[in-house]
Amino acid sequence: MSNSNRYILEAINLHKSFKAGEVREHVLRGLDLRVERGEFLAVMGPSGCGKSTLLHLLGLMDKPDSGSIIIDGQDTTYMDEQTQAAIRRRKIGFVFQRFNLLNVLSGYDNIALSLKIRGLDTDGIDRLLASMGVAEVARKSPEKMSMGQQQRLTVARAIAHKPDILLADEPTGSLDSANTQTVLEMFKRANEQDGLTVVMITHSPTVASAASRVVYMKDGKIIDGNT
Ligand SMILES: Nc1ncnc2c1ncn2[C@@H]1O[C@H](COP(=O)(O)OP(=O)(O)OP(=O)(O)O)[C@@H](O)[C@H]1O
Ligand SMILES: [Mg+2]
Repeated sequence: MSNSNRYILEAINLHKSFKAGEVREHVLRGLDLRVERGEFLAVMGPSGCGKSTLLHLLGLMDKPDSGSIIIDGQDTTYMDEQTQAAIRRRKIGFVFQRFNLLNVLSGYDNIALSLKIRGLDTDGIDRLLASMGVAEVARKSPEKMSMGQQQRLTVARAIAHKPDILLADEPTGSLDSANTQTVLEMFKRANEQDGLTVVMITHSPTVASAASRVVYMKDGKIIDGNT
């Protein structure tokens, strides 16, 4: 049944506010977004408009004040946290601007840990690293890797468990143009070959042009590019 859903990810009328001292900042203001299965979507918009807030909600890392997140046809609104966590672990991969790799572990073991947390076997890691062009970092600690190597490893880790959706928050924000291209090619390959749906926040129109669709956010809503 789930494969017949056209949309892998839907956000419906999301509202989210944060308390900043005495005042409440209303960040998302009735945001709607639908992402088709297999899309590569870029999200752009001015700093502070709520892009990262949206990504956290889409990834079930935080809860909206109201509105719904529907993942693969399942409305997550009234799910308990354990059920949400299970969906997050199984169906979603994350890449952030900062790499969040563990320096006490090798590149290989950073991925192995992520798979073991999910109860998955670790047989394919060397093949995955080789296919991503980072075979040489398998035995290195992340702190001894270049920025580009760290981000390639981060992307490999994010997709090793074969999620349906990759959520990326400024994944190329700390990379030079050569490494930016490499990361975009990794996203494209996973998108085209494995049908991975990608939602990527970026400030760069050049980076956004790698996506198949771009939506623009302002004042807590999508103002352009919605289907
Ligand atoms: N956990 C939080 N607690 C309080 N305020 C928050 C929290 N997260 C975000 N905000 C506020 O919400 C607003 C939107 O932040 P968000 O990080 O979503 O913006 P953004 O569009 O990702 O910006 P940038 O492009 O600079 O990354 C900001 O004013 C921010 O201070
Ligand atoms: Mg942000």
